Amino acid sequence: MANLEINFCGVKFGNPTVLASGVLGVTAASLRNVVRNGAGGVTTKSIWLTEHPGHKNPTMFGTEHYFMNAVGLSDAGFEKAETETFPEYMKKKPAPIIANIVAYKLAEFGVLAEKIDKLNPDIIEVNISCPNVEDEFGKPFACSVVDAAGVTKVVRAMTKKPLIVKLSPNVSNIGEIAKACASEGADGFCAINTVGPGLAIDIDLRMPILANKVGGVSGPAIKPIAVKCVHDVYKATGLPIIGTGGVTTGRDAIEIMMAGARLVGMGTMVYYREVSGFKKVVKEMNEWCEANGVKNIEEIIGCVKM
Ligand SMILES: Cc1cc2nc3c(=O)[nH]c(=O)nc-3n(C[C@H](O)[C@H](O)[C@H](O)COP(=O)(O)O)c2cc1C
Repeated sequence: MANLEINFCGVKFGNPTVLASGVLGVTAASLRNVVRNGAGGVTTKSIWLTEHPGHKNPTMFGTEHYFMNAVGLSDAGFEKAETETFPEYMKKKPAPIIANIVAYKLAEFGVLAEKIDKLNPDIIEVNISCPNVEDEFGKPFACSVVDAAGVTKVVRAMTKKPLIVKLSPNVSNIGEIAKACASEGADGFCAINTVGPGLAIDIDLRMPILANKVGGVSGPAIKPIAVKCVHDVYKATGLPIIGTGGVTTGRDAIEIMMAGARLVGMGTMVYYREVSGFKKVVKEMNEWCEANGVKNIEEIIGCVKM
């Protein structure tokens, strides 16, 4: 058996697989269940300062190749994280927990970061891929070098915890954006959030399938985009990355690590392989390591010859 342990920003993960934000990350019980099913760590669904309703149903649908969602970052707000999710999960914490936070405004990111820090997550992940109402064009913070760096600076001022920024693939300069975040104190990154948005049409009804009409695309179809983004961020910064996007098998996990990821995020995988998919992916990674003489998984991080 290969050594699959990973040190990420000073936090020890038993294996490289991590539950991505937004999937099964709403209650302590479901987070614990994901760890029981093999994940090396978990990420909460995006936490807002106050309750956030999200979009109308239907918000999700999937095909054999991809998944689309317009959940709209629904969340009960910080209070639930403070009174339920974190206290419950932290009792005999089964694996590292990453708190994913989101806000519309810079000042809100600061307030929320200060509060989240007190819940003692292992890592804080800043989701800057949500619509930015401060920007008249409604672009996410992740689409501008200045905005992405600005959010990083505000959050950095409020916490000494490892701080990672979740990047959007929907830009032409992800490496430059990552560099700007690094210069304001980001310790690492999660790449990527969903691609698009995309549009899927019910051809019998001649209508969009999702009530929100458009939605973020995830799952197997986006894997090559995720692998390229991870490599760009790795080249630009050399900082630790949670490679996320379309990873469904052990071979996918190995591939994104070769592009530069230290950890591997999986969300939509659960739709294809159920929650026990984490165990299956870890087993497949071990089998690949054994067949290829890899004794320590760290050997393959960023090893792709370009
Ligand atoms: C149903 C669903 C809900 C999601 N909610 C969030 C969220 O609340 N916050 C966030 O940062 N990313 C969210 N994501 C994005 C995932 O964390 C991940 O970055 C993306 O889906 C690509 O990975 P995957 O192909 O493994 O799902 C969501 C994805 C899905 C499918």
